[in-house]
Amino acid sequence: MVLFAVWFKVIANPTLLKLNQVRNMSVVGGALSRNVLAIRNSGMMMVRHAQTAAAPAPEPRIKKFQIYRWDPDCAGDKPRMQTYEINLNTCGPMVLDALIKIKNEVDPTLTFRRSCREGICGSCAMNINGGNTLACLNKIDSNTSKPTKIYPLPHMYVVKDLVPDMSNFYAQYKSIEPYLKKKDDTQEGKEQYFQSVEDRQKLDGLYECILCACCSTSCPSYWWNGDKYLGPAVLMQAYRWMIDSRDEFTEERLSKLQDPFSLYRCHTIMNCTKTCPKGLNPGKAIAEIKKMMATYKEKKVAAS
Ligand code: SF4
Ligand code: F3S
Ligand code: FES
Repeated sequence: MVLFAVWFKVIANPTLLKLNQVRNMSVVGGALSRNVLAIRNSGMMMVRHAQTAAAPAPEPRIKKFQIYRWDPDCAGDKPRMQTYEINLNTCGPMVLDALIKIKNEVDPTLTFRRSCREGICGSCAMNINGGNTLACLNKIDSNTSKPTKIYPLPHMYVVKDLVPDMSNFYAQYKSIEPYLKKKDDTQEGKEQYFQSVEDRQKLDGLYECILCACCSTSCPSYWWNGDKYLGPAVLMQAYRWMIDSRDEFTEERLSKLQDPFSLYRCHTIMNCTKTCPKGLNPGKAIAEIKKMMATYKEKKVAAS
């Protein structure tokens, strides 16, 4: 009776025919095992097998990554390229995925910055296959016959491996006072500073900058004069505050750029705009500052 009940239940409900159930039932007794074997050989079981058969393992897709390595704290260490091999079948699609995989599974000494892994924090900026970009937004080239070459951002001092020293860049950013300034700050925090929809729209394409420095470190003028030329990222932010309708220090902001280096070392090379991983246009922002500067100078001459 018990045997019949089990048999009926199995036949009536094919979804119960899981392998582990079959295995459990087979230990109940010899007769039951024979019945189970019969079921196993039936067409119904064949269908079940066909559904769960494992797909053949795909061919490994081995991709080489050649990565700049240098540890200044290690006496005698010289900059070099180190090659790592990664199976793309077991790796995420982005270059940052490959770097994390190498660090986790192959070489924990490999050093790089990352945080958000979605193009928001700007910390994974590096030079990949000759272009400055964000490793988390850059897809791995699936052509396994060509290695992917990764360097730190160009013309920056290196802290270690792919980590550039950003101190000068941040000091320059600080120098433009990247915040709202009012002549009368007694009202600060008391009420909102309103802005029309049109004025707010003027900030589009500027406020989205994540200060990754890809643009500045792609600019030849910044390579040669990075100590005195502010570079496209910082200048675009200077412009962002100059044209903010709520800010009252536009002229002072312009006057601070009136030397031969801070602004005028931009020669409209446009590498900056070409490389920006956020699709922004710092080259245009600099051109706009130059136009504002011309008007500002004319006004100054007229006033004197
Ligand atoms: Fe990065 Fe673009 Fe901002 Fe330059 S403008 S710092 S490339 S997000
Ligand atoms: Fe450099 Fe861009 Fe000007 S690449 S020279 S900052 S337009
Ligand atoms: Fe944040 Fe790439 S990890 S921008």
